[in-house]
Amino acid sequence: MDQLKVNIIGIGIMGTNVARVLAGNPNARLTAVADLKPANLERAKAEFKLEKTYSDYEKMIAEEKPDVVYVATPDWAHLAPVMACLESGIHVQVEKPLATSEADAAAMVRKVKETGRKLQVSFNHRWLAPYNQTWQIIRAGKIGRPVCGYARKNNPIDVPTKMIPWAKDSSPMWFLSCHDIDLMTWWFDEDPIEVKGYGYKGVLKKNFGYDCYDAMQGLVKFGSGAFATFEAAWIYPECHPARPDSFMEVIGEHGHMHLDRKMEQIEMSSPEGMGWPRSLLMANVFGHQVGAFPSCVNSFIEIVMEDKEPIVSAHDGWRSTAILDAIHRSADSGQTITVPKAPVV
Ligand SMILES: NC(=O)c1ccc[n+]([C@@H]2O[C@H](COP(=O)([O-])OP(=O)(O)OC[C@H]3O[C@@H](n4cnc5c(N)ncnc54)[C@H](O)[C@@H]3O)[C@@H](O)[C@H]2O)c1
Repeated sequence: MDQLKVNIIGIGIMGTNVARVLAGNPNARLTAVADLKPANLERAKAEFKLEKTYSDYEKMIAEEKPDVVYVATPDWAHLAPVMACLESGIHVQVEKPLATSEADAAAMVRKVKETGRKLQVSFNHRWLAPYNQTWQIIRAGKIGRPVCGYARKNNPIDVPTKMIPWAKDSSPMWFLSCHDIDLMTWWFDEDPIEVKGYGYKGVLKKNFGYDCYDAMQGLVKFGSGAFATFEAAWIYPECHPARPDSFMEVIGEHGHMHLDRKMEQIEMSSPEGMGWPRSLLMANVFGHQVGAFPSCVNSFIEIVMEDKEPIVSAHDGWRSTAILDAIHRSADSGQTITVPKAPVV
């Protein structure tokens, strides 16, 4: 196969980024996109010189017969297009999180097994060199078996109140902790067994009328007895320059690792204020899209062309969704939640 025919479902912010990455990949050809918003379709048609766009993704995959579909719809709208593509024999790369409930994620894992198609979840942080290096160091046994971990991802309050319109229907943990949970469970190489979650509602409720958590923590226990805590908050004052304030830490039986991403290498100040601009996930360097996100998107083209195993499997996507689902159920109910076993495939 010389070139894979690719379609995108959901050509919003991330779908557009995917199309820009694919434009620089000689092994992929974007032939069509689908979206519910006519303005997004018009914009994509012009930028990517597409002959056809669709408002109905089922019609698109039936007519275009792509080899690969990239699903970049909102979190709660991944299940239906992913299932439709797999059932049509199409390989799928889907944005994180795989789903917003353990049951939906489990259904997708089973469908992957049933259809024999490949599915990769876009946990692009695995392609970020320091996180990937941490995985390699842990696998080489340099700090011993991981026994305890901590991950923080916190944002200023303008993120839920000015930047994202759907924050009141979500939570800081759904928005921020997904990548951390994938990284930690990948490093630990373990499935969760039990979760206790806590959440505080007050600042956003009182000042903005949002019935959502201000701050959350989840303590996850794994089968070996190892455990990890995840923290997400989105009520820092607007003046805080980190977006997000982020670090991860692992303690092993005979060593530790600490990764600080708060400043991400660049510090700047200007009349607009103080900032730490981000550049490691995606940046245009001399006309080429580089960084962890392009590497992740391009990896799936290689995986399909060369018939390799996905780097982030459907099971991995299930695992982080199952943990997030359990942390929210625990925070809402005050109970400790037993995580269902991974779907048997
Ligand atoms: N990997 C990352 O670091 C990262 C960063 C941001 C967002 N995301 C994820 O990417 C996904 C998309 O986020 P976004 O910021 O691009 O959102 P967005 O709102 O900008 O884009 C989503 C698009 O999907 C379209 N859509 C919704 N339902 C549809 C349907 N049934 N058929 C066709 N199109 C449909 C919407 O009209 C919209 O244009 C989310 O799951 C989000 O969590 C990932």
